[in-house]
Amino acid sequence: MKILFVTSEVYPLIKTGGLADVSYSLPKALKKLHQDIRLVLPAYASVLERLKTIETIATVEVTAYSKPVHILRSKLEGMPIYLIEATDYFQRPGHPYIHPQGHDWPDNAQRFATFCRAVIKLGQDPLNLNWQPDIVHCNDWQTGLIPALLSQQAQRPATLFTIHNLAYQGLFPYHQFYELQLPNELWSMHGLEFYGQMSFIKGGLYFADHMTTVSPSYAREIKTNEFAYGLEGLLKTRSPQLTGILNGIDTQVWNPKTDSYINKNYDEKRLHKKTNKQQLQQKMQLPVEPNTLLFAYIGRLVAQKGVDLILNSLEQLMAYPIQFVILGSGEAELEQQLTQAQQSYPQQMAIHLAYDEALSHQIEASADVFLMPSRYEPCGLNQLYSLRYGTIPIVRRTGGLMDTVVEATTRNIIQHKATGFLFDEANVMDFTHACLQAIDYYYHKPKIWRQLIRTAMQEDFSWQISAKEYLQLYQSIKK
Ligand code: ADP
Ligand code: GLC
Repeated sequence: MKILFVTSEVYPLIKTGGLADVSYSLPKALKKLHQDIRLVLPAYASVLERLKTIETIATVEVTAYSKPVHILRSKLEGMPIYLIEATDYFQRPGHPYIHPQGHDWPDNAQRFATFCRAVIKLGQDPLNLNWQPDIVHCNDWQTGLIPALLSQQAQRPATLFTIHNLAYQGLFPYHQFYELQLPNELWSMHGLEFYGQMSFIKGGLYFADHMTTVSPSYAREIKTNEFAYGLEGLLKTRSPQLTGILNGIDTQVWNPKTDSYINKNYDEKRLHKKTNKQQLQQKMQLPVEPNTLLFAYIGRLVAQKGVDLILNSLEQLMAYPIQFVILGSGEAELEQQLTQAQQSYPQQMAIHLAYDEALSHQIEASADVFLMPSRYEPCGLNQLYSLRYGTIPIVRRTGGLMDTVVEATTRNIIQHKATGFLFDEANVMDFTHACLQAIDYYYHKPKIWRQLIRTAMQEDFSWQISAKEYLQLYQSIKK
């Protein structure tokens, strides 16, 4: 099967969140299943810097963009990767979607429309590349125009659209639709129009042959108004074409036995988390106390992730002998509140407001508990990394979190199935209660705590099963 995997970020070239991890690990797993899979992403400045050999294979004209667009080719760990080079749009420093001042890049519609149009040319092969995909696998709103534009062509590859996060929809005013010279027929509620605006994600949701999202529970949730932000009607109607497939993780990148970022490698039999914890406490200028329970949070600092619940529980929790390590970057207000909290509890709390790959591995290897109190979570990867590193997750019962963490109920503990703690409502009381439960188990039921770690570390969240599900889906939609 020839698969063109279209994404706006991929680890380790450019990453803002889990999409980059999946865009790296899923294609890698499909390649292992002997599929001819190729990646395509924008030629961001940082990506060009990181790839070694890059050749220009074609130059194309793209509607509504005045300069030529170059299609480049390179390899990422043996995987062919195409880059769309529209210099005005992608040769700029920093974040792929956000201006240094914190707002979206004002030309995001133009940037990703140009990307989509060039990808279609690549997929259709007027370029003599001698390679035409059977499947174009699109991801999130940045790629949404691809299924919409392809739907207008008689001979086309099959399209799959994966929803990683329905909250980000790529909404733009009508005048941009006009300026982009998109086909008039697409301006319809049965198309890109969404309450008077242009919606990139609707291009995927309305026109793709099939859709997936990244966990079975989120696939159910997005058919309700609480999670779909107005798109529930469309998703309900297209329910037969919507499948939830749980994300996997890259078990080579995330392996405590071989992880080169961490001080002392370990496995479930020889657990060296305390040695790693000491090292981390030193590095983060916390009192070096290997027996003190260490809570961790790693992630984007946005409302989705429920960081406010952590902040508002501190007063009650800090009365216990515990420490917090927090690694994240994002909304200025949350960064400020975290800084204040750190100043209030300098002996118990360390924060690092940045994006730091190495530190994220070190924290996973050192902490006892991982906090993920998300208001919603399509899948979530950090709880999966945590399970593999024996860092017991506390998560809210939502989306992929509830599909992957098994609650420490008496019954699950007796059956050796429990791997973490869950709570229901996104409020401070429920969250604090789950944290207090973890504190109690850690200090007073060490045998059970050890068992939780062992069970968590033995779980298999590799791509083995999910990659096969994607393959079956590709086969079922292939033209
Ligand atoms: P989301 O995609 O919603 O951000 P996920 O849990 O799916 O959430 O994936 C987040 C990914 O980004 C993980 O690989 C996580 O380790 C990484 N990450 C997020 N923030 C940071 C940070 N500040 N430093 C290092 N890694 C981070
Ligand atoms: C999104 C979601 C996250 C998911 C990731 C990868 O960013 O917020 O839950 O794990 O995509 O699919």
